[in-house]
Amino acid sequence: MTVEWRGKPVWIIHRTKEMIDGLRKTDDQVADPKSDRKQSEFQPPEGLDPETRALKPEYMVVVGICTHLGCSPSDKFKTGAESGVAADWQGGFLCPCHGSTFDLAGRVFKSKPAPDNLPIPPHVYLSESKILIGENKKGA
Ligand code: FES
Repeated sequence: MTVEWRGKPVWIIHRTKEMIDGLRKTDDQVADPKSDRKQSEFQPPEGLDPETRALKPEYMVVVGICTHLGCSPSDKFKTGAESGVAADWQGGFLCPCHGSTFDLAGRVFKSKPAPDNLPIPPHVYLSESKILIGENKKGA
């Protein structure tokens, strides 16, 4: 699902257990596995798990704009050679503009033009099935 926040697309993607497990396999291939670099003008929510970059691992919430020059990456959810990306591909996103690739946590792969991971917008779960984008606290 894509929603708009501050004029930017925010992707809310349900991740399966296989998708979440695949993130461990990309840890040594991504440029900033724990999101230590300054990555955006947004303040992501506290309590974000550094590997899944999520409050709830089964839901990925990211701004769908490449951190290189602002193109919109395409989803590449198929794994392996069938993805057309790489034989060991675990699923993720490919920016068609200059070839940056991101894993299923929005972490950019090493040696790609994009300097940073896809930003995580402020958000909070109001209930099990309701997310508020743009705030980090209920009622803030
Ligand atoms: S804009 Fe995405 S790789 Fe250049």
